[in-house]
Amino acid sequence: MTRGFKIPKRVTTEIDFEGEVIKIDAEVPEQEPEPIPEDKKLNIIGKKVPRINGEEIVTGKAKYAFDINLPGMLYGKVLRSPHPHANILNIDMSKAEKHPGVRAVINLNKKNVRYVGEEIAAVAAVNEEIAEEALDLIEVEYEKLPFVVNINRAMEPGAPRVSPDGNISKPRTRERGNIEDGFKEADVVLERTYKTQVEVHNCAEVHGSVAKWDGEKVTVWDTTQATHGVRRSLAKTLQLPESNVRVINHYMGGGFGSKLGLNVHTVAAVNLSKIAGAPVKIMLTRKEESYCVGNRPGTIQTLKGGAKKDGTITAFHYKSHNNGGVGSGGSNASPIWDMYQCPNCLIEESSVYTNTDASRPMRAPGYPQGTFSVDLFLDELAENLGMDPLELRRKNYTTKNRGGTGTPYSSKGLDKCYELGAQRIGWNRRNKKPGEGKGPIKRGIGMASEIWGGSGGPGTQLDFRLITDGVVEIRCGTQDIGTGTYTIIAQVAAEELGIDIKDIKVMIGDSDYPRSGSSGGSNTAASVCPAIRAAAADIKGKLFAIAGPLLGENPEELDVGESKIFVRNNKSKSISFKEACKQITEGMLTSNETRGPNPKGYAFSTFGAHFSEVEVNTLTGKVKVIRHVAAHESGRSINILTSENQIQGGTVQGLSYAFFEQRIMDEQTGKMINSNYYDYKTPTAMDTPQIEPIIIDSVDPVLNNLGMKGLGEPPRIPSHAAMANAIYNAIGVWIRELPITPDKVLAALEERKEG
Ligand code: MOS
Repeated sequence: MTRGFKIPKRVTTEIDFEGEVIKIDAEVPEQEPEPIPEDKKLNIIGKKVPRINGEEIVTGKAKYAFDINLPGMLYGKVLRSPHPHANILNIDMSKAEKHPGVRAVINLNKKNVRYVGEEIAAVAAVNEEIAEEALDLIEVEYEKLPFVVNINRAMEPGAPRVSPDGNISKPRTRERGNIEDGFKEADVVLERTYKTQVEVHNCAEVHGSVAKWDGEKVTVWDTTQATHGVRRSLAKTLQLPESNVRVINHYMGGGFGSKLGLNVHTVAAVNLSKIAGAPVKIMLTRKEESYCVGNRPGTIQTLKGGAKKDGTITAFHYKSHNNGGVGSGGSNASPIWDMYQCPNCLIEESSVYTNTDASRPMRAPGYPQGTFSVDLFLDELAENLGMDPLELRRKNYTTKNRGGTGTPYSSKGLDKCYELGAQRIGWNRRNKKPGEGKGPIKRGIGMASEIWGGSGGPGTQLDFRLITDGVVEIRCGTQDIGTGTYTIIAQVAAEELGIDIKDIKVMIGDSDYPRSGSSGGSNTAASVCPAIRAAAADIKGKLFAIAGPLLGENPEELDVGESKIFVRNNKSKSISFKEACKQITEGMLTSNETRGPNPKGYAFSTFGAHFSEVEVNTLTGKVKVIRHVAAHESGRSINILTSENQIQGGTVQGLSYAFFEQRIMDEQTGKMINSNYYDYKTPTAMDTPQIEPIIIDSVDPVLNNLGMKGLGEPPRIPSHAAMANAIYNAIGVWIRELPITPDKVLAALEERKEG
């Protein structure tokens, strides 16, 4: 008896998203393509393939949200609080409404504002200048309230209250074993405090949205890491049916976590557009970008750890206070919790609330902070034990998560990263005694390790078509946030079908295409690519059903390559791929096959190790990074060029974190004083060393049909810690606070002289 329908399989998979475990419940296929064997010779996957749309991007043809200009379009601006903490007693918008050229004004109906930059109202006008003028005409009566923007001050008793429940949240704790027992077993116990600054995302492309109504339907071009996510949130916020909302994001100039969610200015653009009856564009200014759309929380971390004489770590006790602004300060603890073998571990982390913009995820949220403490700590521990820092890490190596107490990793190539990275930098050249170099300019070498998620997961849907002209069209609601998603999708499809990458048309970044997840947690590539491969394999089977009779062969015996379909055991018997496509009588073959869940019983992580060589001028305090080796294991690399690109970019961001970036708040006014690219320091090409990526191109044996993991965030995690350890090796003085500016180097050197 048939029911006339089929019940598909659904599976719940747990994946790591931005350091948090999330559950994905999704329909999965009955069958998946066999994993590609590690030794199989591939033509396009794992090669250096330039971006398929690189020319469009560099010639300015690619359309970013900023490039969307529509007939009759208005320009929106957001009125933001000039005060870090105030009650709003009254708003008078009448003058702004009457201002010539103004088409809509909306009040966000706030009773209270808690940071400089918090949104209060918004206007739309015929041009940006008039919109600015209109903001000035909105009269707001504030009752100013006491505020605090500094994390230390916020923790003092009697500090102005940011949150009614106090400025320090109840600690979030994690515990295993018993740290007291662990410390008793130790021969050496150290306790050190590490501090990191607030860093702002400062994406090259500012945030912005263009909204356009068409009857009951609204289309939004948005700078977002989550095309489908923003559609859903927008529909919910506006109480619209989801099918009436369309979100488009074809190109993006970086998000780094600041563009994961729905923004207030996006909702404002949609509402203004509705009132004005015209499309509205709101693009934030560089200044707004600095203090209104998130940041990486600053931290004060204390790590106490113990080890036996032979280097065996016995306990970690980690406490952290994270400056979350008016939001959560997140967590930094995973590198301490997971990375090194340690049976006894206690983690206590609190958010500290300040009158500043809420933190947001930022490229590997928490991990650069946690790595700064644990990897500097290990180097100091190694010195106390009279051990080589790399040997200490090898001594405490583990192939299971939770510091060796948890689940086995599906793959872990960190040992390879250690070996090849150490070789490349010349680890044995480092100072045996830190600071031993002669003369005022001293060199040193240091390293640090990386762990992150990036497994990807199921739930990507797509529409995969093979047309009679031999062209493949792929529609998928994922997005390319600057990482090369278009290109790796095309590579996987071309490889599986044995055809030229030019014949693959990739259409992504539109919620009208089937749903895929947000681009976060380094999960995009490993979520999308295996699904592409599954659909391509499905199409291949469908084409073989057509080609088999043409070749007089059983379709099961066919294979593809070099734009041909041939008989596996008799390559000379073949038909060109395009010729076979001409025989698709329906006009196209289609597939919406997708990838399966991640297997159970494993932990999935990515690994890496960075090695840095620095030169410290002990007269000026200036540090120059001479060379930086960045070794990463993220499973199979789909594209060596984009992988290297991620490694270069992540390392430069780490360099920037190590020496340059910091948000500076004025405690008198509660304002950020360096909210522009001139005062907010980042490295230039002159400050950037030679960066040497090493890609451990191994294949994860179980994770997915391509054996791949993500790589977007990993390179951002260890570089600054490797640099800080190298500075110690150069000068023999610890600097435990970021950014490592010349004044801190000189002060540390001075202290040593005095001590
Ligand atoms: Mo996340 S910080 O957007 O990868």
